[in-house]
Amino acid sequence: MVHTVGIVGVTGNVGKPTTKYLIQAASEGKIKLVIFHREGSKLDGIEASKNVEQRPINFEDPVEKLEEAVKGINVFISAVGFGALPREPKLVDALSRSADLVTYVPSVYSTTWNSKDFADPRTGPILKFLHGGWERAKEKGVGLTPIYAGVFDLYFFEVGTLDHLAHSLANIATSNPSSIANKSYSVVTFWPTGQELVDLYTKIHGKPTTIKPWTPEDREAFMNDAASFGPAKVGYWDKWESNGFEYEREGRVVVEGYEGPGLEEVARGFLH
Ligand SMILES: NC(=O)c1ccc[n+]([C@@H]2O[C@H](COP(=O)([O-])OP(=O)(O)OC[C@H]3O[C@@H](n4cnc5c(N)ncnc54)[C@H](OP(=O)(O)O)[C@@H]3O)[C@@H](O)[C@H]2O)c1
Repeated sequence: MVHTVGIVGVTGNVGKPTTKYLIQAASEGKIKLVIFHREGSKLDGIEASKNVEQRPINFEDPVEKLEEAVKGINVFISAVGFGALPREPKLVDALSRSADLVTYVPSVYSTTWNSKDFADPRTGPILKFLHGGWERAKEKGVGLTPIYAGVFDLYFFEVGTLDHLAHSLANIATSNPSSIANKSYSVVTFWPTGQELVDLYTKIHGKPTTIKPWTPEDREAFMNDAASFGPAKVGYWDKWESNGFEYEREGRVVVEGYEGPGLEEVARGFLH
């Protein structure tokens, strides 16, 4: 019997491409899929079809209503945006009451943060905001499948592209649920050095790349800009600079085998 995957945030940056891959898996009979959406959200191109059901949900709803909504879901993927993250612990409370739930993928999709990052007075509060559902799942003993990712290629491209993330996430969710519960995955597309990027843009432009130094003053300005997640951005820069990413540590499974666009194609995308 195939298992049932549910996904919420299906119109978002992460959710939309992931849903596309999940619909494909459902059409091939590999899973049953439930597309969770807010009433009135624009589901262009995301239609109910064979093995695909649409079901309304809103994280603002009381926990009892969420509990009713998530019935029957074995793998629950959350891909909601920042606005809904404060309610994600409530979603996890609902999932914790489901006899069907095997594992939950929290809407974090960020790099590997360590205890020093969490203890930092400026970075820590942002990380706690991002990890609310994840922490609640640990408290409640809910099966957990975190996905680590780099900075999305919407912003910068030193580590993870959205297509790679979506493709990997759909593959993971299509696997046997008990085989992915309490396992974490790293989806890392590119890992170039600063010099490799300089060389790449020099090649693309046919002239030397101008380099703007990243100064201690720049770093401090970002650290003081919590409203734009500045301290989290600094975390990526610091880890990149010190090669401090921990994608391969603590049993994290590095997802290999992605054959999407290469670094040069993604880099060229930033020129339009
Ligand atoms: N690594 C990185 O560089 C990076 C960058 C950005 C984000 N992220 C992470 O990725 C996660 C997803 O971000 P995103 O940019 O894909 O999000 P997004 O594009 O803002 O997507 C928002 C989605 O959440 C849904 N939503 C919003 N409020 C909701 C509610 N109350 N109930 C149910 N659904 C609700 C929206 O549905 P409607 O269609 O109804 O509006 C929409 O589908 C974030 O939580 C963040 O942690 C990582």
